[in-house]
Amino acid sequence: MSVDPEWPQIDSTSYPYIFEKNVTVNLSNGSFIRVNIYKPKTADANQKFPVLATHGPYGKDVPYRYFHPKSFSDLEPDHQTEHSAWEVPTPRHWTARGYAIVRADEAGSGQSPGYLDILSCASIDAFSELVEWIAEQPWSNGKVGTLGISYYAASQWQLAACKPKGLACIVPYEGFSDHYRDMCRHGGILSNGGLDVIWHRQVGSNQYGLPGRAARNWGDDTIEGSMSIEALAANRVTLIDAVRPYPFRDGERFSSVAFNLEDVEVPVLSVANFGGIQLHLRGNVQGFLHSGSNLKYLRFIVGRHDLPMYYPEEVAVQESFFDAFLKGEDRVGWSRKGEVPAVDLILRKGNVGFNDPKAEKQFLRRQENEWPLARTQYTDMYLGADGTLGWTKPTIDAPRKVQYEAFPEDKTQGLASFTTAPFESETEITGHIVAHLNVSLGRHRWQKTTPSDMDMFVAIRHISSTGEEVYYTGPAGEASPITKGYLRMSFRKTNPQHPRHREWLPHRDYMPGDAAAMVLNEIYPVDVEIWPTNVIVQKGDRLILEIGAVELLGAGIFQHDDPVDRPEAKFKGTNSIHFSKNYDNFITLPIIPNSN
Ligand SMILES: *[C@@H]1O[C@H](CO)[C@@H](O)[C@H](O)[C@H]1NC(C)=O
Ligand SMILES: *[C@@H]1O[C@H](CO)[C@@H](O)[C@H](O)[C@H]1NC(C)=O
Ligand SMILES: *[C@@H]1O[C@H](CO)[C@@H](O)[C@H](O)[C@H]1NC(C)=O
Ligand SMILES: *[C@@H]1O[C@H](CO)[C@@H](O)[C@H](O)[C@H]1NC(C)=O
Repeated sequence: MSVDPEWPQIDSTSYPYIFEKNVTVNLSNGSFIRVNIYKPKTADANQKFPVLATHGPYGKDVPYRYFHPKSFSDLEPDHQTEHSAWEVPTPRHWTARGYAIVRADEAGSGQSPGYLDILSCASIDAFSELVEWIAEQPWSNGKVGTLGISYYAASQWQLAACKPKGLACIVPYEGFSDHYRDMCRHGGILSNGGLDVIWHRQVGSNQYGLPGRAARNWGDDTIEGSMSIEALAANRVTLIDAVRPYPFRDGERFSSVAFNLEDVEVPVLSVANFGGIQLHLRGNVQGFLHSGSNLKYLRFIVGRHDLPMYYPEEVAVQESFFDAFLKGEDRVGWSRKGEVPAVDLILRKGNVGFNDPKAEKQFLRRQENEWPLARTQYTDMYLGADGTLGWTKPTIDAPRKVQYEAFPEDKTQGLASFTTAPFESETEITGHIVAHLNVSLGRHRWQKTTPSDMDMFVAIRHISSTGEEVYYTGPAGEASPITKGYLRMSFRKTNPQHPRHREWLPHRDYMPGDAAAMVLNEIYPVDVEIWPTNVIVQKGDRLILEIGAVELLGAGIFQHDDPVDRPEAKFKGTNSIHFSKNYDNFITLPIIPNSN
């Protein structure tokens, strides 16, 4: 018997579950990956279990407590365990409920050899084979489900579209489903900051063959031994290097992982975070809307991205869903279409502060049968050249423009803002917002470069009746606005013929043929997609619409500032919003009529 010095209460050879480490799974292409298996302890040695599987690069053996000590300490106590790992299900919790957990290191990470190329098609092919392998194991009941956050959610959509034998349902928490639009290029703008931080902090640090992992408490050293610096470099591609060369959706990087959501047919519980306005929201909503599943559910949450999947009330929902599809024990009706309302909303009403899970529990929930809500009244709110935002169209006697700077010396010059009067009554906004604007690009006096493109960042902020800002929790606990949108003007062309195009969600193809440069001082109409949201604006509250050429409130690590993607020579200039009889500028809000 050996005692784990970190967890003296635990006899490390005798967990309350059976722990098998570094099990080899051969892939049909001649390669292999290594997985950890955690199984319930039962009297019957032949018992078969439903299985929850994950496959990813953050380290099956990297203890959560070292991976992110602060986040670990904020977790629900029963998820603070010896085998807890970042963004994946807790073995101790699920084995106690009759589930086996399989946790794989993907190729090139942890104990799985190979080329480290996350989010690649090879990674998804391996995940599919892993699921089929699991379904055939004598200890599995043949039904595999998936549960995980972010990376471990995004991969589920793609996995499900491959239809591996044995996959019975998916529960993606806060992931993306469209590599281009949701993750890598927001409105065409490279979302470099997040890709870079995530890769270096938690992917590269776990590369297969990287020396010193055990010494850093970052899992075990590589079974086959460490690799040289040169061999390591030759065996990986960073996310940003993989993506940066491709501005369009037909680029090899995006095309190779493109899939059709309609191929997702297994039951889906898609969990979207209203605060995930850079990564953890859009794809869950789109995934719900367009997956081919007969049984699909959309659940909204709030809070930091690392914690909610482990909240007791969330775990209870996950468990009832998995029990229905992996154990055949459907207590609430998930498997009978129409019995469980398809949408479970969280209503963001009042100022509860941000990054405070306890306070956020004050937000009520409401079930709905569809998304967006059928009773939505799309209502325009007009921008005024005087910085106002109002329900009535302003009368404009002479053409005016509101200007702000791209690459300003002083960041406050990098945006324009438009503020409403205090709301006269409580107003619910739930759904998708579009900003309709007329904009132009100009140069400064003595500016040597001629700009040819313009990046737009849009945010909607909330001011309470008493004058303080109502902040919402961003992915890492940042103070965030209600919601945001992004668009590179050269991608302004929409495709209204596309079956996914909606008045409330303009569809863009982002193909080379769509790119359209801007001629200086010519005025272009544009519809800017803003990410789906919910807020209840109370009587006396105000909204502020910000339109900028700079990153707005709450961007956190998700900066769009790659010098190759946004060169100053191309973007530096004066951006203008035009107002005249011909140029109405407005946002279309999804207003939900008061049900009282
Ligand atoms: C991999 O797992 C096996 C089996 O549990 C164990 O003997 C071995 O020590 C593990 N390797 C490492 C590097 O932890
Ligand atoms: C996996 O492949 C290796 C190498 O080809 C082979 O030695 C091993 O027996 C295979 N394992 C299984 C379980 O098939
Ligand atoms: C086999 O698949 C793995 C995992 O996706 C990949 O890393 C490896 O390069 C592939 N090997 C070959 C020979 O294609
Ligand atoms: C101004 O923009 C709005 C919204 O994009 C559009 O409907 C309108 O046609 C534009 N005006 C002109 C003259 O292009």
